[in-house]
Amino acid sequence: MTGRPKLAKRNASGSVRFVGRTIWGMGKGAFDMSRVLVACEESQIVCKAFRARGHEAYSCDILSTSGNNPEWHIQGDVVPLLGKDWDLIVAFPPCVHLSVSGARHFEEKRKDGRQQQAIDFFMLFTNLKCSKVAIENSVGIMSTFYRKSDQIIQPHQFGHPESKKTCLWLKGLPLLTPTNVLDPPASGRWDNQTPSGQNKLGPSAERSRIRSKTYTGIADAMSKTWG
Ligand SMILES: C[S@@+](CC[C@H](N)C(=O)[O-])C[C@H]1O[C@@H](n2cnc3c(N)ncnc32)[C@H](O)[C@@H]1O
Repeated sequence: MTGRPKLAKRNASGSVRFVGRTIWGMGKGAFDMSRVLVACEESQIVCKAFRARGHEAYSCDILSTSGNNPEWHIQGDVVPLLGKDWDLIVAFPPCVHLSVSGARHFEEKRKDGRQQQAIDFFMLFTNLKCSKVAIENSVGIMSTFYRKSDQIIQPHQFGHPESKKTCLWLKGLPLLTPTNVLDPPASGRWDNQTPSGQNKLGPSAERSRIRSKTYTGIADAMSKTWG
């Protein structure tokens, strides 16, 4: 077996880990499906969107999944998987130390190395042998540190009445076409915004996990366009 993911096995907590054998029982030729790695995804929203279109997709995250399909979730560090034989990698590297929304803490994060660590992790996805790669991140320093993103999307272009500017860097993939563009609300603010334009969710341990989940409309567009 060369370069292919190994058989996934459920551990005591119900999550999936790799063991010794290949999981590719049915090759791409048989059903013309793609092998998709959704890197840094605990929710499985994108993974499930690709599964719904018949692809062999796996989510991978250091966290256990909240997505109810642990048999498609690889819990652990994604880095050892990146060089394996995937047709497509869709990556959601953490943006907490990169995003403009945290700019007031940048100096501290530069000094203590957290920002450099986040940059280094993001950059791993920019130099993969896989010929189709999408990297998603909030608006932040990677547009200057790495390069301008290929596309900036909003959930309200994909049927969700919310605002969250999201950058996509694409290799070997077309831009996403908006699937359901909503009119701006009469109030001038989207459902998730306070009057000052901030996100309504207050600080809490769960806040970043909730906010970082991919919108289903965007996940569907990804699977439709890239699958
Ligand atoms: C911005 S969130 C993306 C969440 C994703 N959009 C979703 O719907 O689940 C980044 C994720 O990267 C995960 N992560 C961080 N370092 C990782 C690593 N080395 N390997 C795998 N996942 C990692 C975090 O646990 C977190 O869930």
